[in-house]
Amino acid sequence: MTEDLSDQAAILVMFKAHLAENNNWLDFASFMHHALFDPKYGYYMRDTYKFGSRGDFITAPEISDLFGRTVAKQCAQIIQMTGGSILELGGGSGVLGSDILLELDRMDHTLDEYLFFEPSAALTGRQKDRIARLAPNIRSRVRWVSELPKNFTGIILANEVFDALPVHLLSLNVNGWQERGVVVDNESLVWQDRPIEDERLYHAIDGLDVNFPYVTEVCLAVNSLVNELSQSLDVGAILAFDYGYEHSSYYHPNRRDGTLSCHYQHKVDSDPLERLGHKDITAHVDFSRLAHAAHDVGLEVSGYVSQADFLVNCGFTDLLAAIDPEQMDAYLPAASAAQKLLSPTVMGEMFKVISLTRGINEPLFGFSHRDRRHML
Ligand SMILES: C[S@@+](CC[C@H](N)C(=O)[O-])C[C@H]1O[C@@H](n2cnc3c(N)ncnc32)[C@H](O)[C@@H]1O
Repeated sequence: MTEDLSDQAAILVMFKAHLAENNNWLDFASFMHHALFDPKYGYYMRDTYKFGSRGDFITAPEISDLFGRTVAKQCAQIIQMTGGSILELGGGSGVLGSDILLELDRMDHTLDEYLFFEPSAALTGRQKDRIARLAPNIRSRVRWVSELPKNFTGIILANEVFDALPVHLLSLNVNGWQERGVVVDNESLVWQDRPIEDERLYHAIDGLDVNFPYVTEVCLAVNSLVNELSQSLDVGAILAFDYGYEHSSYYHPNRRDGTLSCHYQHKVDSDPLERLGHKDITAHVDFSRLAHAAHDVGLEVSGYVSQADFLVNCGFTDLLAAIDPEQMDAYLPAASAAQKLLSPTVMGEMFKVISLTRGINEPLFGFSHRDRRHML
């Protein structure tokens, strides 16, 4: 407890320094960036368990290797067309990379390389431990990069990366739209709304037909990341998996509190100003913004489906059917994982998959049925 208090006091000192450099008001995107990625105190930079039962939340690849094995089928189709490598952004514990590499090996598909681009040194360490367990002929293809490669050919994967990008908070109250930021009051961080100054934020809410009180998020960082990925990608596909909505649903009049949420020991709450640096902070992805950002930098938005449809389109159910139901030890966890990954009430519908491609002319089979690009 004493350790906790001194940790929180040290984080408050860190935030006070940032506030002092910013006229004593920090926009929420800057706050979120420091809370997640401060080199010493940021949530993702600490060497603690984040994923799975010992951590704070669970992601699809952590639920079952059936997820990574199914994604590998889509990767195999793309690599057959383009050749080249896979670049995984924010690889977490390394489990998705490991499962994809094993499945591609089983399918006799060779990659030039599997690259991890991970801002957290602590998570890079976990990825290295995981990959070290693979056979030498597989792990020899794996490399960690500290910058996005130039002239990349192949596949860029991002599972639950876009939801970790910092968002700006906007609040509609009796005075109209304002930007929500953070100040220090009585030795605590508290909210304070100010007039919006950034034109891009005005533009984002322009025309929204909602009533006050209403709080929502705008992720300007999506545009920067998509632009950087586009500059990196010569030929191939970016596949992003994440929870989120299309614009009309994201900014629905009934979604009055936005989508910002925090995850700590498998509990979800909406107060990012408490337990600083110890909770994951995330916002749903506005897939329409992501798609428009991609279009603006010359990428083709070539598919957009629910996670359940993507997995089924890629042959998830064949992998499941190949497990003998008599082998209860293997079958029961697989059936339970299938329920979580596919069910519309768990991850199947809330999670979407979008493909952004360049120089690929054939349709990707992960998006062959129930493509919903018309909703973006
Ligand atoms: C919610 S975790 C998901 C981890 C993993 N992909 C999974 O599904 O289990 C978010 C990951 O994205 C990484 N991340 C956050 N911002 C990033 C960025 N701009 N570029 C690359 N990775 C990023 C984090 O360090 C972390 O590894």
